[in-house]
Amino acid sequence: MDCDAILKMKDNDCIYVMQSKHSNSLQEDVQHGLLTVPRSMPPKYFYDEYGSLLFDRICDTKEYYPTRTESKLLEDHALELIELAMPRHILEFGSGCSRKTHFLMQACENLKIDCQYLPFDVCEEVLYQVRDEYIRRYQWSDVTPLIGDYTAGLDDLHRPEGACLYVFLGSSIGNFDRQQAKEFVAEVAACMLPGDSFLLGVDRVKSAQILHQAYNDKDGVTGEFNLNLLNVLNQRLDANFDLNNFKHKAIYNEVLQRIEMYLVAESRQTISFNALDESIQINKDEEILTEVSHKYTYDQVESLLTDAGLHILKHVEPDNAWFSLVMAHKPL
Ligand code: SAH
Ligand code: TRP
Repeated sequence: MDCDAILKMKDNDCIYVMQSKHSNSLQEDVQHGLLTVPRSMPPKYFYDEYGSLLFDRICDTKEYYPTRTESKLLEDHALELIELAMPRHILEFGSGCSRKTHFLMQACENLKIDCQYLPFDVCEEVLYQVRDEYIRRYQWSDVTPLIGDYTAGLDDLHRPEGACLYVFLGSSIGNFDRQQAKEFVAEVAACMLPGDSFLLGVDRVKSAQILHQAYNDKDGVTGEFNLNLLNVLNQRLDANFDLNNFKHKAIYNEVLQRIEMYLVAESRQTISFNALDESIQINKDEEILTEVSHKYTYDQVESLLTDAGLHILKHVEPDNAWFSLVMAHKPL
């Protein structure tokens, strides 16, 4: 059978991006991450439909400054950024609710640039909502969701004709470790043709107190989001986590310049994963690492892009230097 046909199935105006390099299944991630100590899980499992909704609510908390800060940068600079990229396509990794992409689409509309929007996410439900919303609002545009895991290789990415603007916002790059972040940017750079651009939003190193508050909002939305991972495991693997027996913990590790998020067991308990025919004992105070969020200096942000052979066209930050929005392109 034609390989492409296996790799790519077009369905319902969405494209399933198949993995082009090995990426663990949920079962493997649980086996390697949860059944052994120290315990951890990759962050992509947070985002079932409810997880995506909770993340959207995190973005509105008073303490979580990144969304507001990045939105303002986009609002102020979208026109200039779109003029630099002149995109025929905007392909956004981890697009979620695509809240901030409106600034880019509006700029395209103002500049009369007809461009296609390709939101790429693991969460199908949220992609359908975004597709409907964007089609209604930007009737001149074509909206084609890409469903898949961006950590599973980008070789199979739907590569359209014409200048492509790749977008990665929300400092999701920080959720990779530093080496994986470099590798991911190199993978994006390898997809790019001369004339393509890459817009990256990155959270910067700053006071531990501000960072701590951003991941410990007082209404507990971040805690609920973190705990939702256990619901996802309960549903998908017929596990029996009791969410009341775990609590959210997020700390800023000043040495590694990253937030670390954990779920901490409040009592000793036995967890069974019926779908895997496995069970584990978790001791009181034992921790599951669920997320890291690395913070970058101005120079580190630039190196991420230049080390991959990209040229920086524009780097903007707010007066308090809390966030970077950088546009780079692939030179001829
Ligand atoms: N870009 C948005 C949303 C960020 S939340 C913003 O800046 O606010 C992270 C998003 O990335 C979620 O929608 C989640 O479903 C998606 N995501 C996380 N890991 C992913 C992966 N490995 N592949 C594809 N999408 C992923
Ligand atoms: N990319 C976001 C960040 O690192 C993801 C995020 C924000 C997040 N708040 C969170 C992930 C809380 C898990 C829990 O800031």
